Amino acid sequence: MKPMVDLVAGARPNFMKLAPVVRAISMAGDLSYRIVHTGQHYDPSMNDVFFDELGIPVPDVHLEVGSGTHAQQTAKILERYEELLLKEPPSATVVFGDVNSTVACALAAVKLAVPVAHVEAGLRSFDRGMPEEINRLLTDAIAELLLVSEPSGVENLRREGISDHKIKLVGNVMIDTLLTQAEIARSRDTATRLGLAGRAYGFATMHRPSNVDDPETLSVLLRLLDELSAELPIVFPVHPRTLTAAKRFGLGDILAHGRPNLICLGPLPYNDTLSLVSGSRLVLTDSGGLQEETSVVGVPCLTLRENTERPITVTQGTSRLVGNDILKIREAFRDVMEGRWGQPTPIPLWDGKAGDRVAKELSEWLASR
Ligand code: UD1
Repeated sequence: MKPMVDLVAGARPNFMKLAPVVRAISMAGDLSYRIVHTGQHYDPSMNDVFFDELGIPVPDVHLEVGSGTHAQQTAKILERYEELLLKEPPSATVVFGDVNSTVACALAAVKLAVPVAHVEAGLRSFDRGMPEEINRLLTDAIAELLLVSEPSGVENLRREGISDHKIKLVGNVMIDTLLTQAEIARSRDTATRLGLAGRAYGFATMHRPSNVDDPETLSVLLRLLDELSAELPIVFPVHPRTLTAAKRFGLGDILAHGRPNLICLGPLPYNDTLSLVSGSRLVLTDSGGLQEETSVVGVPCLTLRENTERPITVTQGTSRLVGNDILKIREAFRDVMEGRWGQPTPIPLWDGKAGDRVAKELSEWLASR
């Protein structure tokens, strides 16, 4: 019998990381897998669309936890995943990224002596005010195989006392998905469908609690997007968390009706996002994934954060940290518009083959236990 691994996904950024690993495990043929969806994200536009377009098989198990406070969401995942583990234990649990589903499933598994592998281990923003930083620290502390996307992750894990034999630098699985989908994304020509044919435009996203949960900050950022869009039209797919916050703070009108040049949309499918990002003049975002994707497609990225757990996107990629500081954002915007932005250099192991390396490390690890 082949060893069976659980592949856990819960929130949108997990799906792009899961897809290449599913493909690579199927190709290698020496492991079987079960896809476990926690249901942290549940809107079709944040879920089903991604499974369809990335060719991910329908989840074998759905835990249907939905939204809640951090403790509620984490607790529900712990209980429901534990129940599954008790009924049908896998040989290992593989978790991705840094969302609540990642830490919750890792914890349920190790407590039942199911070993855990973490894809995208070792990233650190050194900002414990970020829920994701807590998820990363805890998951890495209990995982037995740490699969790392960039060299800073290896250094961080060593500094935390994790022994070398557990750490494997495999590269970035999200970039596998980007390279696989690039041609389909180009053919979608999403900008034309939005009436932007032949025009320069920007692309913006934001959903981090530090940017959207405080009325003052959100108001400043939305008004700034509106201001910048007078010079460069901006496409802005709005995350449900951001929309809910904006309505609560009386800022809903900016998003509901948009502005002539601030094109507000709902969450977009992956291929449309990649199509728009690749063709854009610049991206403004607080997303981790977009910092990586813009670095590979060579589009300037104004990162709306004070810090990043992905420092290689600043040193070798196209990202600059601008926080939510209006002056820094305006200055960076001017730098892009006037051609003052460095070119990225290719990042080692962000080559479209990270999924294969993950599958190989998983097989060797399980064979050696
Ligand atoms: C989560 C991740 C974050 C990731 C982001 C990508 C954690 C701690 N955060 O943040 O790292 O970058 O996903 O999207 O795991 N909602 C819906 N429909 C959905 C999902 C959420 O309407 O399908 C709304 C609900 O109001 C919910 C809110 O969005 O309360 C926040 O959702 P949640 O999963 O708690 O966190 P995200 O902000 O999406």
